[in-house]
Amino acid sequence: MRFGIICVSDRCYNGECEDLSGPAIAECVKELSDENVYRLVPDEKELISAAIVEFADEFRVDVVFTTGGTGFAPRDVTPEATADVIEKQVPGISEAIRAKSLEITNRAMLSRAVSGIRGKTLIVNLPGSPKAVRESIKVIIDVLPHAVETLSGNTQSCGGNYGK
Ligand code: MTE
Repeated sequence: MRFGIICVSDRCYNGECEDLSGPAIAECVKELSDENVYRLVPDEKELISAAIVEFADEFRVDVVFTTGGTGFAPRDVTPEATADVIEKQVPGISEAIRAKSLEITNRAMLSRAVSGIRGKTLIVNLPGSPKAVRESIKVIIDVLPHAVETLSGNTQSCGGNYGK
């Protein structure tokens, strides 16, 4: 599987801090990943959208994870940038992440993250902290292979017994 990782952060982009969440994503998906591509962008809607489009349309990665910019801060626009470029919504992924995360912290309800599909690429917003990234990916990692297989057009294994 090929992953696109987009860190959305003004502070990291300006060199004021190091991105720890992008590497946390790479660590979480390493068992599934053949290749990762990475971008660091500021909290600018057009630049976030452009990075998603580049990874989906040119690199044709299977899954794009964004990290950061999903909250209430004035410059948090990652969900809006994502909504602008997805063709189908996948609310269940973000709902599952929020539901499980609420068992860990009430603040999970403050993430406005969305998920969706563009072409054959699944795009998932994650919150900004490495802790939140790890907690969120844990919720969905087991479903990713089937999601990607189905997106690629193979729907034959949908009726199987997957335990959970
Ligand atoms: N989800 C999980 N699993 N763990 C967390 O620690 N932090 C929350 C929330 N989701 C958190 C979480 C907090 S404090 C915020 S403000 C929102 O994600 C938005 O984060 P972002 O603005 O960095 O994207």
